[in-house]
Amino acid sequence: MAVPNIAQKAPYPVDVEAGKSYWWCACGNSRGQPFCDGSHKGSTFTPVEFKATESTTVWFCGCKHSGTKPLCDGTHKTL
Ligand code: FES
Ligand code: FES
Repeated sequence: MAVPNIAQKAPYPVDVEAGKSYWWCACGNSRGQPFCDGSHKGSTFTPVEFKATESTTVWFCGCKHSGTKPLCDGTHKTL
C-alpha cells in the first residue's frame, strides 16, 4: 500500500458546520491542508469524506497515518 506524506505531525482543528461535507486529504500533498485540493491525482489516494452532524470543532489528522481517518487518534505521536 502507498504511504501518505506527513503534512504535519499534529492535527488541524476545524470549526465544521452541521450538515456540511468536508473532503480530507489522504495523500498529504494538498496545499490546502487538511482538505483535498486535487493534488492526489495520479496516485492511489482519494480524499475521505467527513459529514458534520453538528456544528463543532473537530481535529483532522495532519500526519495522514491515523487509524480513525479523517480524524486524529494520536498516532502522530508515534511517528
Ligand atoms: Fe490529498 Fe486529494 S490532495 S487526497
Ligand atoms: Fe494524524 Fe494525529 S495528526 S493521528
